[in-house]
Amino acid sequence: MGKIKAAITGVHGYVPDYILTNKELETIVDTSDEWIRTRTGIEQRHILKQEGWAASDMGREMVNGLLEKTGAKPEEIDLLICATITGDMVFPDTANTIADKVGAINSFGFDINAACSGFLYALSTGAKFVESGSHKKVVIVGLDVMSSILDYSDRTTCVIFGDGGGAVLLEANDTYGIEDAILKSDGNGRNFLNMPAGGSKLPPSAETVKNKQHYVFQDGRPVFKAAVKGMSSAVTDLLNRNNLSKDQIDWLVPHQANIRIINTVASQLDFPLERVMINIQKYGNTTAGTLPLCLWDYESQLKAGDKIVLTAFGGGFTWGATYLTWAY
Ligand code: UT7
Repeated sequence: MGKIKAAITGVHGYVPDYILTNKELETIVDTSDEWIRTRTGIEQRHILKQEGWAASDMGREMVNGLLEKTGAKPEEIDLLICATITGDMVFPDTANTIADKVGAINSFGFDINAACSGFLYALSTGAKFVESGSHKKVVIVGLDVMSSILDYSDRTTCVIFGDGGGAVLLEANDTYGIEDAILKSDGNGRNFLNMPAGGSKLPPSAETVKNKQHYVFQDGRPVFKAAVKGMSSAVTDLLNRNNLSKDQIDWLVPHQANIRIINTVASQLDFPLERVMINIQKYGNTTAGTLPLCLWDYESQLKAGDKIVLTAFGGGFTWGATYLTWAY
């Protein structure tokens, strides 16, 4: 009997209703639709404006939609992992709040903080519980409410990010599922992309608020270079390790941070853009939300047995690539 695999048996995405266009951003900050489109590929992003809503409310929508689609019942969820850097609160975690809101009364859960690579890290972590046979239905949520930590007077960050994400269900399968993953990190990259205050290093104070240290800080150019290198090398190593040529891969699913990063990675891998999932123009960079949002958008084009490689790079630095076979 073959090894038990953890297969994705459903995906459901959610983005808030409000659409912030490049044109509207032109009225908020010194930028232009032309600059944003040509330098990032982004045309619009969705922003959470519903009164009283937080990350867990978006998560609730994702998981409820996922349960409806797959026919799974909330009480059947054994484990719920939420990848996010913009949870409802610093603590407790957001996974258990989502579980409470959807009625997943038998699940345990926790958050994973790996920025844009969070979904990849959470997918591998959840898969281990399914592969071991200890847990049958595992939900992986990847989402972020980036608008809650953006400075809308900083044109270098506020034009890039958006809110949203998605959830997948993992279940045992003897044919298809997560095949392999390479997950990497380098804490030395922490100074290039972070939120300086609000943690134990720099607790919140009038001073940190005045200095705008509760917002995303990014030194874009070094992050751009590291992202290209990290994703290209993780995908190359993963393909080599699994004796796969690029021609055998049906879909490449890259983190959606910048269309120029996606194009450069595809070109370095000599991978045709027709088989690269791209939706950055609609959502911007939703951090832990980009990969499930891609799977959700392209779901109708996927079929059982498709070979898919996901790859991401983000704050930490964190990065990696996951090879899976689609189950339905
Ligand atoms: O998802 C997590 C990982 N993050 C990433 O992968 C993001 C990686 N970095 C990037 O995608 C790009 O570096 C950015 C999109 C953040 C910036 O693009 P860039 O081509 O690297 O621009 P830059 O920072 O080198 O700035 C070029 C010019 C500057 O003006 P000067 O100094 O040449 O006069 C900026 O001030 O563009 C200016 N600029 C803008 N102009 C209009 C920066 N942001 C804007 C803006 N609108 N929004």
